Amino acid sequence: MACLSRGWVLLLFLFLISISATCAAGQQLEVWSNGGVHPVPLKTNAADATCAGCHSEIGKGQYVHSAMAMGCATCHEVQNRAGKTHVDLVSPVTQLCVTCHALSQDKVQHRPYQLGDCVVCHSPHASDFPAHTWVSTQDTCLGCHARERLKVDAKKKTVTVPWGVRLTFDQMQGWQYLNLNAALTANHPVAGHPVSGPNTALGAGAPPITCLSCHQAHASNFAHLLPKTPPDPSMPLCKSCSLCVDCHQNM
Ligand code: HEC
Ligand code: HEC
Ligand code: HEC
Ligand code: HEC
Ligand code: HEC
Ligand code: HEC
Ligand code: HEC
Repeated sequence: MACLSRGWVLLLFLFLISISATCAAGQQLEVWSNGGVHPVPLKTNAADATCAGCHSEIGKGQYVHSAMAMGCATCHEVQNRAGKTHVDLVSPVTQLCVTCHALSQDKVQHRPYQLGDCVVCHSPHASDFPAHTWVSTQDTCLGCHARERLKVDAKKKTVTVPWGVRLTFDQMQGWQYLNLNAALTANHPVAGHPVSGPNTALGAGAPPITCLSCHQAHASNFAHLLPKTPPDPSMPLCKSCSLCVDCHQNM
């Protein structure tokens, strides 16, 4: 009897684990598997209106990807195999975007861009942020480059960004945390330097500072994804580097 009830407790425990695992999986943005079983049977020629009947939240947002106007089947393919419905991507997720978007040929490439991990930063459908990134540009960058934001699982060798995408250590090869202040607003590239907030160097009217004031998100021809001549390491307050004098005319 004692044995039986222990069995039940164990079963209940496994059941709860499987529920929480399912929920966690549901919150993941990744469909890297590309070929999971669709929970509802579908006809291979199902119309967009059919999809929208259940996936009404897909494509909602202030910034909608232009490809959405071309229909779900531009990227998704319904297949019925062995009595089960699969909704596959028409090409692997790391190659899908470059069927329409030419890759940059610049020498320095940001690893997630180079690997084709576009959907790590961009929703393929829509979001409330420019260029339909999952979160604001600044939060996108801090998501991987601020120790406080990135969740690391050393055992599984994975990291999870705040908006739920999980990556392997291999995908993250070479990444570095910035040594920012507690509010994640300053201390880079030199101590005390703002990385967000108003651009007090140029005054009112200048766009606020973000990571993209000094970096490209995808690729560039200068070290560290800088948009222009990088600073000379031997001259911390470089007099001749054009990036810095954009904001510090008298440097
Ligand atoms: C009758 C409801 C229903 C219809 C119609 C429907 N879906 Fe789904 N779909 C679901 C549910 C439920 C899930 C699982 C929960 C979720 O991811 O939202 C799902 C999941 C998915 C997933 C994620 C699969 C994965 O591997 O995680 C994709 C992609 C998808 N649907 C695409 C489509 C497309 C494209 C269509 C139209 C051709 C469509 N669905 C039509 C209910 C539906
Ligand atoms: C430009 C290509 C593209 C178009 C167009 C597109 N999708 Fe997707 N969709 C994707 C990719 C890529 C993923 C996987 C995202 C990931 O791995 O994070 C995805 C994931 C999904 C998912 C599962 C993840 C989630 O966000 O719930 C659903 C459901 C889905 N798409 C439905 C649709 C429906 C419905 C349409 C048409 C209204 C559509 N998609 C149009 C590329 C597209
Ligand atoms: C079927 C073709 C097609 C596919 C596949 C496609 N796109 Fe696009 N995408 C477009 C078009 C068309 C535009 C609008 C013109 C432009 O900006 O190039 C666009 C624009 C964009 C923009 C710019 C939005 C803006 O506001 O400037 C982003 C970001 C983007 N796509 C990301 C992606 C990502 C990520 C994927 C892969 C999940 C993808 N695209 C797959 C056709 C496509
Ligand atoms: C590390 C995050 C990140 C990754 C990975 C990424 N992007 Fe972007 N992307 C951005 C941000 C941020 C912007 C907005 C840039 C700006 O405002 O100057 C952007 C802008 C864009 C634009 C519009 C402007 C332009 O450059 O044409 C397109 C299209 C685009 N991305 C497509 C892609 C594709 C395709 C991939 C994968 C090969 C990709 N992105 C990977 C963060 C990313
Ligand atoms: C998904 C995680 C991820 C996100 C999000 C991300 N990065 Fe990175 N970043 C990396 C990885 C991995 C590297 C190391 C490999 C490399 O140099 O590209 C890196 C390196 C860099 C470097 C150093 C490049 C060099 O050659 O020294 C800069 C600068 C950078 N990221 C800026 C940004 C900016 C700006 C954003 C926001 C638009 C951003 N990152 C968002 C993963 C990320
Ligand atoms: C005022 C310009 C500026 C801003 C704003 C800025 N960076 Fe940098 N970043 C640089 C410079 C310059 C370097 C090269 C530093 C060096 O060589 O020591 C650099 C280097 C990096 C590196 C390479 C590692 C390192 O520390 O050398 C990463 C990663 C990086 N930046 C990410 C970011 C992110 C993420 C943001 C936004 C939170 C950001 N940067 C904002 C100028 C800037
Ligand atoms: C996008 C504009 C911008 C760029 C580009 C920029 N800065 Fe700044 N910098 C600022 C602002 C804003 C401050 C805050 C103080 C102020 O109002 O001058 C600042 C402050 C500084 C300070 C004083 C830090 C402190 O402790 O207060 C130094 C040193 C500095 N910058 C060096 C650099 C160098 C070196 C570069 C090039 C790698 C650079 N800056 C690029 C906007 C910028």
